[in-house]
Amino acid sequence: MKTKTLNLLRCIHHLPGTESCDSELKQINEFTLVCRECGAEYSIKDYIPHLIHSKISENRYQKEEMIKVYYEMHFAPYIIVNEKDQEHFSYPQSEIVAGSFEKDFYQSVTQLMSNRNRTESFYQCLLELIRQERLVTPNTTVLDIGCGVGRMTLEMARFDEVDYVIGLDSSALMIEEATKIANSQQSHTPIKVNFVSGKTTTAKIKLDWTVDNCDFIVGDAQQLALQESAFDLVLCLNVIDRVLKPIKVIEQIFRVLKSGGYLVIVDPYDWERSPILQHEHCITDMSEFFNSNKWQKIQELDDIPFALRETNRKLVVYINHCLIYRKKT
Ligand SMILES: C[S@@+](CC[C@H](N)C(=O)[O-])C[C@H]1O[C@@H](n2cnc3c(N)ncnc32)[C@H](O)[C@@H]1O
Ligand SMILES: [Zn+2]
Repeated sequence: MKTKTLNLLRCIHHLPGTESCDSELKQINEFTLVCRECGAEYSIKDYIPHLIHSKISENRYQKEEMIKVYYEMHFAPYIIVNEKDQEHFSYPQSEIVAGSFEKDFYQSVTQLMSNRNRTESFYQCLLELIRQERLVTPNTTVLDIGCGVGRMTLEMARFDEVDYVIGLDSSALMIEEATKIANSQQSHTPIKVNFVSGKTTTAKIKLDWTVDNCDFIVGDAQQLALQESAFDLVLCLNVIDRVLKPIKVIEQIFRVLKSGGYLVIVDPYDWERSPILQHEHCITDMSEFFNSNKWQKIQELDDIPFALRETNRKLVVYINHCLIYRKKT
């Protein structure tokens, strides 16, 4: 963990009458952080701080299988597969049109399947938007909530103007992988990927990026263990429909943003797959989340495709909605 990260961390221990203690933490040894006020302890595993109350109920992101999906989704253009395995790594395009499928439809689906870079346009679109809207200015500090294996976290760290980026995710497995990738940019990070046949093989991620201004933590988007008013820009991409209490995430983002800071929130609102138990938490109009006394809407975009190959035979294509808000001063 970098010193800058330690300085941004705050205690999430519940104290009577308050949501959380919010005090600074100090590192007492390689494995432990302690709150300077209430004495609550948090673990550090493999140099990664774990600032989360209990395991978040939704656990599919803790599975190896999911990590393979995320490697491909985040870093497809940078994955190097052994030459002998190349042909198995993408879907062959079949000429056969099964059953009642319309040929054009079938072909567009198989094309999407066979294109390993299918999610790349999503990240490129967001990067373009961030540039266009000038969301990054000199010394910007960024938080990437629900960062997965860290594609956008690393991308943000590559902006010349960006001072520091924190990637946060509730999945320890995702954060371990993100840390590994970030720390071995110049070399090859060994990973496992899925073939169409279902077989798994080893491959490598190779990024020629020099990034040392980012760090990753295990944490909960619904209770950010981070200093208030610390960030100029918060990204919350494909996360809001994955948490039990979406409104908490927005409140927490408001707390950690500096006044005048920006939030980029993108989502397909796939509430059916969310861990939400009560229907009233599923929101269809995102503007309900954003009180106009506190937030100014800057931009709204729709129809941003986001495709991921969940299993060897399942491609999910979302049509994402994007909102940019500014915390009012
Ligand atoms: C669909 S992925 C999005 C990954 C990345 N932001 C992207 O758009 O490419 C959702 C991520 O949110 C994380 N997540 C789910 N619940 C969370 C929570 N309560 N706090 C933080 N992260 C969470 C998952 O572990 C997963 O990595
Ligand atoms: Zn405390």
